[in-house]
Amino acid sequence: MASHDTLSQPTGARTRLGQAPEPELLDPAERMSVDELRALQLERLRWTLEHAYTNVPLYRRKFDEAGVRPEDLRELEDLRHFPHTTKADLRDSYPFGMFAVPQDRVSRIHASSGTTGRPTVVGYTREDIDTWATVVARSIRAAGGRPGHKVHVSYGYGLFTGGLGAHYGAEKLGCTVIPASGGQTAKQVQLIQDFEPEIIMVTPSYMLTMLDEFERQGIDPRSTSLKIGIFGAEPWTEKMRLEIESRLDIHAVDIYGLSEVMGPGVANECVETKDGLHIWEDHFYPEVLDPVDGRVLPDGDNGELVFTSLTKQAMPVIRYRTRDLTTLRPGTARPMRRMDKVTGRSDDMIILRGVNVFPTQIEEIVLGLDGLAPHFQLVLTKEGRLDRMAVRVEAAPDCTADRRLALEREICATVKDRVGISVTVDVVDPERIERSVGKFRRIIDQRPRD
Ligand code: DLL
Repeated sequence: MASHDTLSQPTGARTRLGQAPEPELLDPAERMSVDELRALQLERLRWTLEHAYTNVPLYRRKFDEAGVRPEDLRELEDLRHFPHTTKADLRDSYPFGMFAVPQDRVSRIHASSGTTGRPTVVGYTREDIDTWATVVARSIRAAGGRPGHKVHVSYGYGLFTGGLGAHYGAEKLGCTVIPASGGQTAKQVQLIQDFEPEIIMVTPSYMLTMLDEFERQGIDPRSTSLKIGIFGAEPWTEKMRLEIESRLDIHAVDIYGLSEVMGPGVANECVETKDGLHIWEDHFYPEVLDPVDGRVLPDGDNGELVFTSLTKQAMPVIRYRTRDLTTLRPGTARPMRRMDKVTGRSDDMIILRGVNVFPTQIEEIVLGLDGLAPHFQLVLTKEGRLDRMAVRVEAAPDCTADRRLALEREICATVKDRVGISVTVDVVDPERIERSVGKFRRIIDQRPRD
């Protein structure tokens, strides 16, 4: 096959794979004008509000309390008069109270575990599963994937949406799927060596774990068949993109999603621009709110991302508050709006003596320094009434004791300068920081709960 001949050439293979898809490969919605897209959204939004109001008692109650009816939506901007939905609403409706179709129409259930209490349960009809596969297929294509590529999926399979979501999308695009799931890192490396996939889908933190394993086995990661990585499920920075791209010689592209809205594939970067994630707006309507007072913010302002599903049957979501912080921007490679890379979740934000800190800010600093491995954690403790943060970061194997001391001082000073807080820094021996096998736990909160 022609595409494979191209792929097997080492020189320039990356450049060719970084090109935009031929227009005829795109879905009709990816070729619409913005006006056509808005008209489609309005029609679908009306259907969704009616569907939710008629079939989900929680939405009926909330709409009634807010004094709004589905027919009050005359234009897209009217959505701001409708009530929000939160994770607490989903938990209180555990397990199936948010479903808008009879159980015999639900063909799949997923759940996200959360840190406390009951999991959040989501359901899909057969058509929903097909929509989901369509947006993931579109995401893989946007990342440079084409029919015939082999896709190694290391997102976890099971109740988590990562594995099965990626799987169905890759199949729908016409790829060969390798359902590796998470864990057994040595075996993952062997499968990549033996099956020669062009694409890997995995959390960026688990990709780092695999990179270490390649090196431990004496294999140059740049020599593998991989050309494209589709990374998501946790925040990651531009610095991390550079780290992964240069160590693996691949295109590293961002995929975003959340189970409440669908799973992976709500938004994805286009490989030819890598300028933020295009939200697949024919299926998901985004808004950005002021996280404190809930006001809708104009595009270009940073705030909390909120989604309303436009086509979901089993579990429509109306103005679901994601807690993810980002900014909406106009489309570039596609007509759909883009979202900036997520800097963090409002609930991952550490407030240290009045200053807001996100783990991604520390990642930007740590990954820019020679002598460190890209593995770090933030440990929060309390001394008296004061919160303290320690940055624990791993030394690279060739880092000398003197260099470590210098790095500790440099990180302290840079964090103070750029983030505005005082931290302690501990550059620890190689292999001392726990390794990710999926979503990584960056923050270790040892503060006593009062
Ligand atoms: O993490 C779905 C997913 C799987 C997305 C695989 C991408 C790849 P949940 O377990 O429900 O679903 O967690 C959703 O993860 O609200 C964000 O806080 C975070 N998240 C997901 N993708 C990204 C990303 C899946 N690309 C939560 N960048 C979301 C930053 C992300 N954070």
